[in-house]
Amino acid sequence: MLLSDKMWKLLNEQVKWELESAYMYLGMAAYLNDKALPGFAFWMQKQAAEEVEHAMKIYNFIEERGNRVELLPIAAPAKEWANVHEIFEKSFEHEQFVTGLINNLVDAAAEEKDHASSVFLQWFVTEQVEEEDTFRGVLDKLSFLKPDSPGMLILDKEMATRTDD
Ligand code: FEO
Repeated sequence: MLLSDKMWKLLNEQVKWELESAYMYLGMAAYLNDKALPGFAFWMQKQAAEEVEHAMKIYNFIEERGNRVELLPIAAPAKEWANVHEIFEKSFEHEQFVTGLINNLVDAAAEEKDHASSVFLQWFVTEQVEEEDTFRGVLDKLSFLKPDSPGMLILDKEMATRTDD
């Protein structure tokens, strides 16, 4: 069954938000690599790839419902940050923002009595708990380290071990 206009608009916008997240994390990866933190850069590249997967899940769902995806403009991400700590603070805030978008989508699916979208979106509800937890976990570790401390190099090595999840 086709999506309602409201659900289409929100899901279509979510494709953009997920791709914009990927773009933001890729920008952070470039900064981190430039700052000689290849482990952090690798971790952010993995995160960006996850965001593309999120976008594609929604993209494919829109098509499966018989609708057409309309790609929207993606904003250019920030280029400079004070340090790694700021990057992860901003990322954590961003994930909380995305959680809000997913919650709006869940509310809209309920209002529209769109049960297929409700079921589909449950995966994203769970995923956002994981996403926030992932960033919170890194922030917790960073809270023990000053941005220019040698411990950053040890954490950088650990960040390089991120696997696909
Ligand atoms: Fe696709 Fe990081 O939420």
